Order: sequence, then C-alpha cells, then structure tokens
Amino acid sequence: LASTEVDISKIAEGQAITVSWRGKPVFIRHRTATEIEEATAVPLGDLPDPQADTARTEKPEWLVVVGVCTHLGCIPLGQSSTQPRGEFGGWFCPCHGSHYDTSGRIRKGPAPENLPVPEYQFLSDTRIRIG
Ligand code: FES
Repeated sequence: LASTEVDISKIAEGQAITVSWRGKPVFIRHRTATEIEEATAVPLGDLPDPQADTARTEKPEWLVVVGVCTHLGCIPLGQSSTQPRGEFGGWFCPCHGSHYDTSGRIRKGPAPENLPVPEYQFLSDTRIRIG
C-alpha cells in the first residue's frame, strides 16, 4: 500500500506503536512533556545530523519516524519502556550501538543520519495518514 491510515487514539502518553508502511516499520510515539522538552532543548550544534525537533514533527506530542537504523538497517529498540532506549531516551540500536534521542535523531554511535520522518499528515486529532 502506498499510504497507511493509523488510529492513534489508543496510544497513551509515553507509549508507542509500530505500524508497517511500504514494508518498513514506522514508529509512532506519543511523547511526554519531558521527552518533548529534551528534544527541543538540544543545541543544533550538538547534533551529528542537525535538525530541529520542530522541523521533524507536525505536533510536538507525536513523533513519527521510520524505524530502521541509518547505519546498516537494524530495527532499533525502545518502542516499549521495558526495552533499552539508549543514553538519550529515544531508541538504541543493539547491532553496533547507535543511540537516538526523543526526536529520533542520532546522538552517538556509527549511524550517520537521524531516523527519517516519512511523509504524513493528520486527518483528524486521532488519525494520521502515512505516505
Ligand atoms: Fe544500527 Fe549498525 S545497524 S548501529
């Protein structure tokens, strides 16, 4: 399918789901106020792949990223709070140790780029279309 519609009404704050889009996992995380704060407080100069959090989100509470490590394509851990999320609270790729922050940006490790943000739009407050 070229695009995927997702009901996000059941994703509680602090939780995330994974949906499949064009054969790839897409992570949708309902961020907490703390996670948003961490994502927006980082100076761009500290980022290997400088991108403002506001340029990566439509609404600050919702982060939507392709869940494929930009190093060699493993699926990072961190979708559930029982998994390791790395040193920056986002995701951790166990293959070679890449750490992503709460905006899905690479912060430490061999991955060269941030987790990509797919094209998406809000159809309503509780529904998004990816692609
Ligand atoms: Fe993720 Fe290498 S594939 S760190």
